[in-house]
Amino acid sequence: MIGALRSSMGVIGVGAAVPERVMTNAEIAARIDTSDAWIRERTGIGERRIVAEDEFCSDLALAAAERALERSGIAPAEIDLVLVATCTPDAYFPSVAALVADRLGAHAAAANDLSAACTGFVYGMASAVTHVQSGMAENVLVIGAETMSRILDWDDRGTCILFGDGAGACVVSANAQSERVVALELGSDGSRADDLVVRALRANPNVIEMNGREVFKFATRVMVDSVTRVLDVAGATIDDVDWLVPHQANIRIIDHATKKLGIDPSKVLSNLDRYGNTSSASIPLCLDEAWADGRLQKGDRVLMVGFGGGLTWGSCLMDWAAEPAGKVQ
Ligand code: ACO
Repeated sequence: MIGALRSSMGVIGVGAAVPERVMTNAEIAARIDTSDAWIRERTGIGERRIVAEDEFCSDLALAAAERALERSGIAPAEIDLVLVATCTPDAYFPSVAALVADRLGAHAAAANDLSAACTGFVYGMASAVTHVQSGMAENVLVIGAETMSRILDWDDRGTCILFGDGAGACVVSANAQSERVVALELGSDGSRADDLVVRALRANPNVIEMNGREVFKFATRVMVDSVTRVLDVAGATIDDVDWLVPHQANIRIIDHATKKLGIDPSKVLSNLDRYGNTSSASIPLCLDEAWADGRLQKGDRVLMVGFGGGLTWGSCLMDWAAEPAGKVQ
């Protein structure tokens, strides 16, 4: 699916939340056959956050959503739709989105989770864009929230070193600023499903199984292709992009795409070193950080690109419409 439209919609608030507990590479290396040096060199990851035993996806999602709402100036009652992208919900049902909508007091909102693994946040943004564009919704809360630590085989050094827990949220609003281009490109290839899978009802225990080399090849190719396609349909070039926000899977995947696309590395957001791969939370976590430290400014053109289980991928080009960090809480 690919398309571009002109619209006055934009992101008017962002928030994030991560668990308190930090797990370093050294801590993992004390248990299994790996090292801090190997993990840093092959992935760019230094540490990650891990939820407490009584902490769940909905807790992280709620905390991120509260911050995003507060910063957007929108009241919970004004939210029309809550979307939670997650592959680690508290339960099969109810959805995390329904729990979060209730705890926020967003009683007028429709709510549902969506499953596109690490591409989930981009799929969520696409859904928000189309709901707002159709006129069905004025304000949509899009959340990416994960407790990846719960679906890891902690003896598998090929996967357990990669992932972490966290959540990020954006408020997409209809009347954000003057009309600009919004563009989307989304895709899937279910024939590659077994390259990255949690078998759930088909297996016990439920843990991530990954063909790391195949996913690596897929990710480096699809990131460049998807960004190129979304820029084409928007009539834009890479020079028009102020911030490229890639899914945080591996710094080598990000570096490869940065070079291939010819974008200045200082315009590419990354926080892999501190959070690892937080799946659908990784893009909004980066956005929150860049907004909070003043890099991401109102009017900046943001290009988010995700890839992951399914296999799936997606890009979303959109202008940033949130007030600067200094002007809000
Ligand atoms: N520590 C030390 N050695 C290791 C580790 C480790 N943690 N993991 C693997 N190795 C070894 C392997 O056993 C192998 O040894 P061998 O040569 O004796 O067989 C050697 O290191 C090289 O292994 P590779 O798999 O070739 O290592 P690579 O450089 O490809 O890195 C990695 C592996 C990090 C998993 C990489 O392939 C990768 O990042 N893949 C993409 C992962 C990804 O993006 N996943 C998430 C997608 S998002 C989602 O939807 C969840």
